Amino acid sequence: MKLNEIRADALKKLEAIHAKSERDLAALKTYLFGKAGVLTGLMKSLKDLPPEEKPQAGKEINDLRVELVAKCDEKEKELHRLAIEAELDSESIDLSIDKPLHAVGARHPLNQVRKRLTDYFIGNGYIVYDSPEIETDYYNFQALNVPQDHPARDMQDTFFINDNILLRTQTSSGQIRLMEKFKPPIKMICPGRVFRNDDDSTHSPVFHQMEGLVVDKNVTLCDLKGTLEGFAKFIFGEQTKIRFRPSYFPFTEPSVEVDVSCFNCHGDGCRVCKNTGWIEILGAGMVNRRVLENCGIDPDEYRGFAFGMGLDRITMIQCAINDIKLLWENDVRFLHMFK
Ligand code: PHE
Repeated sequence: MKLNEIRADALKKLEAIHAKSERDLAALKTYLFGKAGVLTGLMKSLKDLPPEEKPQAGKEINDLRVELVAKCDEKEKELHRLAIEAELDSESIDLSIDKPLHAVGARHPLNQVRKRLTDYFIGNGYIVYDSPEIETDYYNFQALNVPQDHPARDMQDTFFINDNILLRTQTSSGQIRLMEKFKPPIKMICPGRVFRNDDDSTHSPVFHQMEGLVVDKNVTLCDLKGTLEGFAKFIFGEQTKIRFRPSYFPFTEPSVEVDVSCFNCHGDGCRVCKNTGWIEILGAGMVNRRVLENCGIDPDEYRGFAFGMGLDRITMIQCAINDIKLLWENDVRFLHMFK
């Protein structure tokens, strides 16, 4: 074989070697440079040439050898690189996968309502006061002008722990605790859990209220009305109207029930408002003089108003759900409906 044929043949064979064919490369090297290899054979046959041709032929054979060795080394490096890349590829993680790895939760609708209301009142200068869930008879009833054996106790079927200790039935106990510690001017809300022995589709033994209390000089029923109107418009929409109906609570005088115009039918009557056009949302009134006195605040100098609303009820109205148990199940599918 002539040198250029050997060269062309070797390059063609090299070209044909691809990833993962280290064995083919080793075989080619043996074929070219091994003991019985083509180039080794050529070198050996030099001795048969006439002396004057030997140097030139020897140089050509050697040049080809150097060239092919370099080419083989190059190929070897390439195969090595391809092997590493293949290994890295097989170990890599596909970050482009478009599925959420965890189920993402959602804020509970009750907490959404509580947060909106709390934010609203904080924005209007109220402080948020946290009051105990386990109370004494005094804070839950007596200081609120509900003496022992008062018939108004019947409205709040109470879980007693003993004669004196109970689970609070209303956040109104927070009014007393706050007024014992802070003197007017007072503007506070007290959101939290309350407990009554009640259980049907709209009542749960554990539910949530938010108390509001404002005490200052010259506070009037008009201030209460303006405050509640602002709040109702914020939560139910700008077109919302409110109305006061006379009512009775031992700790307020006068007392009112507050209705909002139905956000669903705007007063025409529908299922949400039971065809009345109005939805009852809270109880309120001017703080009874006796309550102020019980907290060491002079009722001739200061006056106040208070209101208390059921957060579960507002949530149920807003989310159009008719079973309060849904608020307790924490079914993620339910929670996602109100994201
Ligand atoms: N505490 C009353 C209730 O639970 C609501 C209320 C609060 C009424 C404040 C008047 C003033 O029914």
